[in-house]
Order: sequence, then C-alpha cells, then structure tokens
Amino acid sequence: ANPQDDTSERLHEVMGLAARFYREQLKPSRRAIDYLKRRGLSGEIAARFGLGYAPDEWQALQKIFPDYQAKTLADAGLVIDNDQGRRYDRFRDRIVFPIHDRRGRIIAFGGRILDKGEPKYLNSPETPLFEKGRELYGLYLAQKPIRDEGCAIVVEGYMDVVALAQFGISNAVATLGTATTPQHVHTLLRQTDRIVFCFDGDAAGRRAAWRALENALESLRDDATLAFLFLPAEHDPDSFVRAEGTEAFRKAAGNAKPLARFLIEELRGHHDMDAAEGRAAFVHEAAPLVTRIAAPLLRLQVIKSVAEESGLTQAEVEHAFGIIA
Ligand code: CTP
Ligand code: MN
Ligand code: MN
Ligand code: MN
Ligand code: MN
Repeated sequence: ANPQDDTSERLHEVMGLAARFYREQLKPSRRAIDYLKRRGLSGEIAARFGLGYAPDEWQALQKIFPDYQAKTLADAGLVIDNDQGRRYDRFRDRIVFPIHDRRGRIIAFGGRILDKGEPKYLNSPETPLFEKGRELYGLYLAQKPIRDEGCAIVVEGYMDVVALAQFGISNAVATLGTATTPQHVHTLLRQTDRIVFCFDGDAAGRRAAWRALENALESLRDDATLAFLFLPAEHDPDSFVRAEGTEAFRKAAGNAKPLARFLIEELRGHHDMDAAEGRAAFVHEAAPLVTRIAAPLLRLQVIKSVAEESGLTQAEVEHAFGIIA
C-alpha cells in the first residue's frame, strides 16, 4: 500500500477513537450536560451530531492512547507540543463537535468553551485530513436532505447547523470560521441547484455574505440560484429558529434575496445615483464583479440591470466593462 494511505488510515483511526472518548465523557460531566440543556439541545440531537466533551485535564487523551508521545497524535492535531517539549491535549474543558468528511469519517473537531472565555471556539489545525476551505460542517448528515429538498442552507456556526436540525431543517451546513470559498460553492452545486446563505444578522455576518458573493461569482451556473437570507441584526440562525420557529425560518429562506439583486442593490447603495459621478463610480465598481460571473445568461441579465441603473445602454456598459475589467 502507498505510505500516504497508511498515514491517513492511522489518522482516521486516531480521530475516531478520540471522538468516541469525547462522546463518552459527555454524560458524566454535569457541567457539559447543563450547558447543552441551557442551549436548548436535546439528547437525541446531541447524539445525532456525535457531540462530546473534552475533560478539564491536560492529558486526558493519555487514557485512550497509552503511547501519548506518538507522532500520529500531533499529526492529527489532537495534542500540542510546547517549547519545553511537553505535550498536552488541544481540547480541554470544551464541548466538542466532530467534523466529518462526506464519507462520515472524522477529520477534525471544533471545541466550544462552556463559559465566557477566549477563544470561544477552538478548531483542529489544518492536517493531512483537514483542509478548512474545502470542508463544510454538517455535510455528511445534510447531503441527503440537501438533495431531497433541492436546497442547501449555508450558515456560519456549528450551533446554527445543530439547532436548525433540531427544528427539522436538516439541509444546513456551516463554513468553519472561514469565508465561503469557491470550493464550498462547487461542492454544494454538485448536490443541488439552490443555495441559501444565512449568516448572522450582525455586521460580520453581512460582510461574510458579501465575501460569499464575491467567491461564488466564478462558480455560478445559469441553472442554479444562490440567494441571501438577511436575519434581523440581533439574530443568528440558531437564535432565530428558536425565537420564530421552523415555518418562519423556511418562509424567510424561501424569500431570500437572489444573488444578482443583492449585487446590484449593494453597489447602488455605495453611490449617489443622482449624480453623474456616482453613476460612473457605480459602473466602475460593478465591472470587475460582473465580468467574473461565470453563468453567461445571468451575466447578461446583470449587465442589463447595470445599464438601467446607470442610464447607459447595454452596449455602452459592455464597452465600458471591456475597457475597465
Ligand atoms: N468561529 C471560530 N473561532 C472563533 C469564533 C467563531 O472558528 N473564535 C467559527 C465557529 O465555527 C462558529 C462560527 O465561526 O460556530 C460563528 O461564530 P459566532 O457567530 O461567534 O458563534 P456561534 O456559532 O453563534 O456560537 P454560539 O452560538 O455558541 O455563541
Ligand atoms: Mn457572529
Ligand atoms: Mn450563536
Ligand atoms: Mn453566531
Ligand atoms: Mn464604492
């Protein structure tokens, strides 16, 4: 067998054992159980997502890995070696969310602190198994619902995915503390022709939506729709579905703003469209974005919108784009 395969086999095995250990530590920990209850999670949903608890100890993993100094543990990102050559567990006193690949194998963990403290979430580092910009949290469980519903919902957080699932919305996945990448969009468009991005209602969430738009342009297809659901400022998907319920969330997702409309409205908002200068700057800002739209018919539609908004003809806009972009 090729040595590469042997390495990833061992890494997968170690991650699976660690996940089981963390799962087993959940029930005996009063604090962890209380925390999950306070977050409104049922035992059933915690089990479905394989949630666990990393004990408040420096070397808890020694209990299941007698060879605690093994290189594999470091390669898997489960332990950290300090300057003095002392090794300790990366995840300590945290709720642990296993991250699966599409075949259901555990490739990483996210760990949430139980109380206040920094960082709120600690994730596995990049390892041979885990390349952050490629993976989506929850995709293993969500892939069938995504295909069945014909729609994927993309959220920011672990808790958003889990809470939506508890409320019967099982087609949600999360980017892992990174921006939505072209690979994310590509992966999802292999499963469905509709993606709804639903980030937090705060300023960071709105920036994340714009980044997702920028990163999606080159993956767009004329037979697919990407749309953006903007939540009220105080909400994220978890808090929204708990406050407003499943039907309200579904309805909001159904009414999400299509990408082309978001693009035009956002750009228009940047400029004084009553002034020639503003309209010129609007076209100038639109050029590098619109020309990156990979779907030819959608690109044509957006060019028409830019023309209408700026008071130019379509030919003039296309000419201008040819010069600028
Ligand atoms: N995140 C991270 N590291 C952090 C903060 C956030 O990796 N220090 C990622 C996590 O995947 C997190 C997501 O970004 O789930 C969204 O962050 P945030 O909105 O702050 O957290 P929530 O998911 O809302 O978490 P909670 O509801 O538990 O506070
Ligand atoms: Mn946030
Ligand atoms: Mn939250
Ligand atoms: Mn959030
Ligand atoms: Mn501008």
